[in-house]
Amino acid sequence: VAAVGEAVTRFAVGDQVVGVAEGCFAEYVSAKESMLVAQPPELTAVQAAALPISGLTALQAVRDQGEVQPGQQVLVVGASGGVGSFAVQIAVAAGARVTGVCSTGKVDLVRSLGAAEVLDYTRDALPADHRYDVVVDTGGNRPLHQLRRALAPRGRLVIVGGETGGRWLGGVDRQLRALLLNPFLRQRLGSFLSSEGRDDLQALADLVGSGAVVPAVDRTWPLDGVPDAMRYLVAGRAAGKVVIEL
Ligand SMILES: NC(=O)c1ccc[n+]([C@@H]2O[C@H](COP(=O)([O-])OP(=O)(O)OC[C@H]3O[C@@H](n4cnc5c(N)ncnc54)[C@H](OP(=O)(O)O)[C@@H]3O)[C@@H](O)[C@H]2O)c1
Repeated sequence: VAAVGEAVTRFAVGDQVVGVAEGCFAEYVSAKESMLVAQPPELTAVQAAALPISGLTALQAVRDQGEVQPGQQVLVVGASGGVGSFAVQIAVAAGARVTGVCSTGKVDLVRSLGAAEVLDYTRDALPADHRYDVVVDTGGNRPLHQLRRALAPRGRLVIVGGETGGRWLGGVDRQLRALLLNPFLRQRLGSFLSSEGRDDLQALADLVGSGAVVPAVDRTWPLDGVPDAMRYLVAGRAAGKVVIEL
C-alpha cells in the first residue's frame, strides 16, 4: 500500500495486500478497500498476483455451485489451467477425491496439486463406467452429453468456461443449453459468473494460510511483455497462471 484514502480503516501505508482492481497492468493502481485482503505471508508477490480472479472463480465453482462435500468424487476438466489448478486444490481441501483432466505434459502438475487420478485427454476417454458427484468444466468445450454421462444421477455439473466460438451464440451455447435443460433433470447443470468480494478473498487467503492452496504459476513477463503474455494466455495452454511481474 503506497497511500490510503481518508475513509480507509483496515490498511496502512506499507501493508502487503492482494485483491482485485481495474487497470492492474500498472505499477500503481487505485483499489477499493473492500476488494483487498492482507497478502498471505506464505506467498511471494508473484504467487499472490496469481490468486484472486482464478482462485475466486474456482472457490465459487467448487464450494457454491458444486457444493462439494467430503468423500465425494469430483472431476475437474481443464485441471492444469488457471481456474482448474485452483479448483483441484480447493476440492481436495474440501475432502473430495479429485480426478483431473489435462494434456500429456501437464499430468505431473495436476498430480502435484493433489489429484488422486489424472486423465490425459489426448489419450484417455472419460471412463464409461464411472460417475462423478461433481464435474467442474473449465476447458475443452466438451459436449454436454459427454459431461452428463460422467455425472452421477443426482450429480452437479458446473460449467466455468472452456467455450470456444459456438455456432449460434458465439461461445455460450453450451451454458445456455445446460440452464434450459436443468429444470427437467435430476442432475443439476449450471453455469455462473464469478464475483469478487472481501469475504471470498479472505476464504481464499485462509486456504493458502492452511497450506491447502498454493497458486501454480507457469510464467512471468515484465510489464512491457503484456502483449506476449496475453497471446500466450489466449493460446489456452498455460500450466497454471501467467503473471506480470513489476
Ligand atoms: N465463469 C466465470 O466467472 C469465469 C471466470 C474465469 C474464467 N472463466 C473461463 O474459464 C475458462 C478457463 O479459464 P482459465 O483462466 O483457467 O484458462 P486457461 O488458464 O487457459 O486454462 C484452460 C485450460 O483448459 C485446458 N484444455 C484445453 N483443451 C482441453 C480439453 N480438450 N480437455 C481438457 N482441458 C483442456 C488447457 O490445459 P491443457 O494444456 O492441459 O490442455 C488449459 O490449461 C475460460 O473459458 C475462461 O473464460 C470463467
